[in-house]
Amino acid sequence: MSDTPEIQLLSGRTVLVAGATGGIGEGMTLALLQQGATVVAVGRSEERLAKLAAYTGDAGPGTLLTHPADVGAPDSQAVRDQLSRYGPLDGAVVTIGDWGSPERTGILDLSDAEWEAMIASNLTSHFHALRALTPLLSPSGALVHLSGFSAEIPYPFAALVGATNAAKKSLVRSLTAELGGNGPRVYELIIGPVRTRPRAAIGADSPQWYSADDLGRHAGRLVAGSGPYAEAPLQYLVTPAHGIRTTPPL
Ligand SMILES: NC(=O)c1ccc[n+]([C@@H]2O[C@H](COP(=O)([O-])OP(=O)(O)OC[C@H]3O[C@@H](n4cnc5c(N)ncnc54)[C@H](OP(=O)(O)O)[C@@H]3O)[C@@H](O)[C@H]2O)c1
Repeated sequence: MSDTPEIQLLSGRTVLVAGATGGIGEGMTLALLQQGATVVAVGRSEERLAKLAAYTGDAGPGTLLTHPADVGAPDSQAVRDQLSRYGPLDGAVVTIGDWGSPERTGILDLSDAEWEAMIASNLTSHFHALRALTPLLSPSGALVHLSGFSAEIPYPFAALVGATNAAKKSLVRSLTAELGGNGPRVYELIIGPVRTRPRAAIGADSPQWYSADDLGRHAGRLVAGSGPYAEAPLQYLVTPAHGIRTTPPL
């Protein structure tokens, strides 16, 4: 498998990207198309999906399909029914998420409304996405989920982002354990700051960060079961200087 050229790595395979319209999602989509996948790009806004299609253009050799849907909606069966036409999937990448209000508030000053809104948008939505998408995967397929590094470290004045990341990580780790090697592989990627077009547009950019495309190429290799990390369900991609770490270490 490792001898397969990157451009053919995913030819003949279908990978769904949930959150494809986001900064990381668009880089993921581009990289997966460049690896030859048929990419089903899912987002809630037809307008943002049309912009994604314009951005990825003829990035091929893969094929882009767009599908407006809310993978975070409570009726997972309805979401699954809509998306089952693309299945069984070889891969699903979940890169949805929400940072909440740009205002930074200390824990003691957070309101219940802010707490509940963040749990809904950045945790319950992920639970619903996992519930909707995992059954669409082929038993030999792979689900790749992203959580920020604030899952592991204190995140002052953005504690709800950290708390929901920690809970998302726990949820995905439990899913891996429940599947117990029977059924699709499930990967949790804990990521540091990522170079994306929207973040660069507001001045948050550094050549020392992984790019969204880097993450996409990595996710594609995991879906293909290719390379040294295919057996590692928990991976840390904080910065390229740190390299890819796994728990337990490889
Ligand atoms: N960028 C970074 O540096 C970085 C670092 C660490 C962690 N992360 C995490 O990685 C994930 C993606 O980051 P990003 O920078 O790509 O964020 P982004 O640009 O805001 O994109 C996230 C996408 O997720 C979708 N989404 C948001 N809330 C949703 C919900 N409740 N249900 C379904 N879809 C929802 C949105 O798509 P639609 O509205 O079009 O459906 C949006 O385009 C987030 O969880 C983020 O916290 C990012």
